[in-house]
Amino acid sequence: MSARVVVVGSVNVDLVVTIGTLPRPGETVTGGTFARHGGGKGANQAVAAARLGAEVALVAAVGRDDLGSGALEELAAEGVDVSGVLRRDEPTGVALITVDRSGENSIAVASGANAALSGEAVAAALDAWLADEPGVVLLGFEVPDAAVLAGARAAREAGWTVMLNPAPARALPDDLMVLGPLLTPNADEARTLSGSPSAADAARALADRTGAPVLVTVGADGALLCDDGSLAALPAPAVGVVDTTGAGDTFNGALAAELAGGGALHDAAELAILAAALSTTRAGARGGMPRRDELGAERG
Ligand code: RIB
Repeated sequence: MSARVVVVGSVNVDLVVTIGTLPRPGETVTGGTFARHGGGKGANQAVAAARLGAEVALVAAVGRDDLGSGALEELAAEGVDVSGVLRRDEPTGVALITVDRSGENSIAVASGANAALSGEAVAAALDAWLADEPGVVLLGFEVPDAAVLAGARAAREAGWTVMLNPAPARALPDDLMVLGPLLTPNADEARTLSGSPSAADAARALADRTGAPVLVTVGADGALLCDDGSLAALPAPAVGVVDTTGAGDTFNGALAAELAGGGALHDAAELAILAAALSTTRAGARGGMPRRDELGAERG
């Protein structure tokens, strides 16, 4: 069975300074090194799913600039179908990222063309994909609500599984929640979205809203799975962390690929946690994203 994943989300170019400590507001820290990487949560998720063997299409928007052309070339080289990525007059999204010696990061994003992805454009781009054998549509919050809602509605109507990674966190519209998406916030996002101080309570509160399972990622501790009223803690393996950028994206892309391939939610989440852990062992959002044979080796 082929695993079909369509990602509706963002494309950025990541400008990364790796440095001893993250600068505080108003502080200048010197001594860093610079690298440029492909980024954007949506594009990263698409690459993570493609590396695990899924058939992946990306619906997104980039500028008509060199950064946009380069981003599309990189994605196509990863096997991602970019025929649904629109070119817009706005500049391609850019993320300024600092990564400290523990692998922690801070990220400032200029959304550019990502903010110009309309609901109509998403619905039109999805048409070609959703007519076929169902899979998973993975949506993210680095594009406007209208784009997310159009993607969720089209996916639901076509009988595809709807996954929503609400990152970065913003209010969850009721119109979206009634479609019952599988939510995958990290712990901070879950707390913000639910108003609950604990990640476990947040997972339960969000599941009550959607009537669907919720997976809350908790960094090096793995994830909490709230399914059918019960809560399970799924641990992550200990790894040598170099850069946590894109770990959540790897989790989401891997989870979508596994679910689209017919995997059960619990098993798919365990594999996604392993993929996300491995992704932190190299620099860049996509640097450590594993291919399927690497996961096999880790699982023994
Ligand atoms: O999740 C990591 C991503 O967030 C980076 O690639 C950056 O582009 C931002 O979108």
